[in-house]
Amino acid sequence: MTTPVSIRFAEPELDGIAAATGRVVVFVGAEGKMGPAARRVDKLTRGALKRLAEADAFAAMKPGDSVDLAWPSGVAAESVQVIRLDRRDDVAAARKAGAAIGRALSPLGTLVLADTVARAAEVSFGLAMRAYDFNAHKTAEPKVPGEVVLMVNGPEAVAAEAAPLAALAEGVFFTRDLVNEPANILTTDDFAARLAAMHELGLEVEILEEADLAELGMGALLGVGQGSESPSKVVVMQWNGGGEEPPLALVGKGVVFDTGGISIKPAAGMEQMTMDMGGAGTVAGVMRTLALRGAKANVVGLVGLVENMPDGRAQRPGDVVRSMKGDTIEVINTDAEGRLVLADVIWYAQERFQPSGLIDLATLTGAIIVALGHEHTGVFSNDDGFCNAFLSAAKAEDEGAWRMPMADAHDAKLKSRIADMMNVGGREGGSITAAHFIKRFVKDETPWIHLDIAGTALLKTDSTLAPKGATGWGVLALNRLIRDNYEV
Ligand code: BES
Ligand code: MN
Ligand code: ZN
Repeated sequence: MTTPVSIRFAEPELDGIAAATGRVVVFVGAEGKMGPAARRVDKLTRGALKRLAEADAFAAMKPGDSVDLAWPSGVAAESVQVIRLDRRDDVAAARKAGAAIGRALSPLGTLVLADTVARAAEVSFGLAMRAYDFNAHKTAEPKVPGEVVLMVNGPEAVAAEAAPLAALAEGVFFTRDLVNEPANILTTDDFAARLAAMHELGLEVEILEEADLAELGMGALLGVGQGSESPSKVVVMQWNGGGEEPPLALVGKGVVFDTGGISIKPAAGMEQMTMDMGGAGTVAGVMRTLALRGAKANVVGLVGLVENMPDGRAQRPGDVVRSMKGDTIEVINTDAEGRLVLADVIWYAQERFQPSGLIDLATLTGAIIVALGHEHTGVFSNDDGFCNAFLSAAKAEDEGAWRMPMADAHDAKLKSRIADMMNVGGREGGSITAAHFIKRFVKDETPWIHLDIAGTALLKTDSTLAPKGATGWGVLALNRLIRDNYEV
């Protein structure tokens, strides 16, 4: 997998600055405030930083913004990157500042003069997150960043603070790799094998094969995968770091490729459906983070891995399938497959684990993109307290999340003439009827959140903490929700 760049924390050593090759990074606070290291760089460059700090260009910079002074005289570095960041600036600004560094690492090394930075660990996190580069399928030699050193006061304390954040970055990278991977590589078998390998981290991982799923009665999930050469699977990952309390359950949609099936999608843009396992990828990234940082909580992650293909054996529009719960479903549109997968995995999660809460994640509907665009995940819930705890975790991590309404009138649209329900409810409010379909498989007593990440799992543009492509949306928020509410 893609591993985060390693960052060394070291005591400030001003005499080495002039000779540092590669990139040197300095911080300037509001009103042009400079610490000892920045003053040294200013002196070496004969006042370049002071001139910048007094320029209108600096006044226009927001916290975390940066400018590059290229090949400045007086230092050996190829660039001095000047970042505006004040001690009072928040976590988001510190991460943004780090991302500005991570975006531009040099093969010759990067020396970050963070002696006056209040949130140096968060800077290192932003740096690592933005330095992500998915180059598994590029044949050119990858540009490997040189050593990254953060000069800070009290490096041991900062390193200790940065350790759980490094676990978080590694979890996010795991998610991003899974989401970026094409479907000929990330088959259901390959996906399951990558999850099974997390056994080494102390997770208990079980793989349920098609015969097991048939025995459990998962007709809804199996119907989706029956047109594919890749076998359908459910993978169960348990992290038991807490006491005896029942676990939080995370359930992910893992459609490794969604052609739409017999209700086939148009050709244009279909290649994006390699990301239709984003929910499962996020669950996997959270589980990895929990294991890496040794979280003191009980969490179980379950993913339904299937491929939705048209074929002689594929399910047809009009087919009726029987879910593990026992409810029958008339499959009006084989492209509304994610909810069929989730229905069975959610039911199984509740029957087996009696979780104290359940959160499902899925790239479920195009309609959520129409409603919210790419900045916010659609949040649906049957429990205000649980939902608000999640929303505040997402806010604290700067991951966009927006609660959507639910109402019985939407549920009524799922009524079928010949079965207990249909799998679609019409175009209007498409993400809401999808949520209502899922809700039918959530027990009344289970606090539940459904996250429709169709718009946020993968972006065509760079974002603050990620290059274009998979974002890993949700790993941060879920990790924080668990840290703040579930740890013993
Ligand atoms: N995987 C898609 C949803 C999707 C769309 C994810 C765009 C990411 C980007 C899902 O399985 C799907 O096809 N949904 C249909 C539902 C419809 C048939 C009711 C959709 O949104 O069109
Ligand atoms: Mn679909
Ligand atoms: Zn899908």
